[in-house]
Amino acid sequence: MKEILSPAEMAEKLLIGHYSRHVFLCIGDACCSAEAGAKAWEVLKDVLKRRNLSLATGPCASYRTKVQCLRVCSGGPILVVYPEGTYYAGMTAERIPEFVERHLVNGAPIEEWIFARNPLPRSTP
Ligand code: FES
Repeated sequence: MKEILSPAEMAEKLLIGHYSRHVFLCIGDACCSAEAGAKAWEVLKDVLKRRNLSLATGPCASYRTKVQCLRVCSGGPILVVYPEGTYYAGMTAERIPEFVERHLVNGAPIEEWIFARNPLPRSTP
């Protein structure tokens, strides 16, 4: 039987508290097809893992979450990165590796794919 961990134990296992960024990817299916959303999600997971950014610590460590709607509902897959609050459109599987490299690794958002910004202040505990 699978051991059930408490939320605090899960957070520790997931290294929550060590991330610099949180990436939310909408997997549709109003902004994009469910297939395009699923493909983008699989590539995001794979690239973050290969670049050692997922389940990691360090300045580029990034937590990822798939969502079913960011309320934009066009031009997807829609992706938002916090704390910068950078909203990207058209984040297909083909664009994800470049996004990871340029934005998450090099800290250089890809201006031509950004359609909105809503930065949040970094909080102090
Ligand atoms: S379904 Fe993707 S933003 Fe609404």
